[in-house]
Amino acid sequence: MATRLSPETESAVRARIGYFRDLGIFDFYRRGSVSGENETIAVTEEGSAAAPPALETTLKPTPAPVLLEPTSPTAPTDRAAALHAIRNDIGDCTRCALHKGRHNIVFGDGDANARLMFIGEGPGADEDAQGLPFVGRAGQLLNNMINAMGLRRDQVYIANIVKCRPPQNRVPEPDEANTCSPFLFRQIDVIQPEVIVALGATAATYLLGAKSPLAALRGRIHHARGSKLIITYHPAYLLRDPRQKKEAWADLQLAMAELGLQAPAK
Ligand code: URA
Repeated sequence: MATRLSPETESAVRARIGYFRDLGIFDFYRRGSVSGENETIAVTEEGSAAAPPALETTLKPTPAPVLLEPTSPTAPTDRAAALHAIRNDIGDCTRCALHKGRHNIVFGDGDANARLMFIGEGPGADEDAQGLPFVGRAGQLLNNMINAMGLRRDQVYIANIVKCRPPQNRVPEPDEANTCSPFLFRQIDVIQPEVIVALGATAATYLLGAKSPLAALRGRIHHARGSKLIITYHPAYLLRDPRQKKEAWADLQLAMAELGLQAPAK
């Protein structure tokens, strides 16, 4: 049943809706039942604006994702500036707890007009120190994978689900990933890559909006934010179990076929 809000609470709710809209979140998970203008937002028992929406907000499959296609595609000449604007919006971010341990925000790296984008989980120690994604051991392997596809690293774009290093390299908590990933989604919308390669289960989960075992997701084309999405193993996993490199190469060949690329002659 809808609850009547006091003017103060209504204005707090509206401000919070605006905050999430700025982040690119348009679908709100219904917990309490309080109607704002045209939208419904979760409220606490006391009727105050609730904490940021939980995992369900972005992980719940939505029948028609509002932001699947960018509303006004960014012209190739404007993409670098548009990425810069997103970085400015992030600012000296304190939106989630990950900011407490970070040294650098790892925004993303590469060609703003890339046809191919790689998305990992989150920065590790080397990335946190340098402010660049995939520059440690896993990054070396990713560079080799990119080269094996006949590309250079500066021809693709590389980013992560979260932009600050999780302590002890743990998997980002849902609230951290849900707070940060809207900025990644905006980056994808600007770059409009033809193909995204998700590196590992965390990237796959937040790009698909649903959690499934990696084995069930590999080997076929999915879609995310208007791009084709191919899911493969995280390079850190391949360092631990190199026997899976063959499988990962098959995934990359799928991406190459979609992009019309041929592996360079050895
Ligand atoms: N692992 C990731 O998922 N991302 C990085 O940037 C580095 C390691």
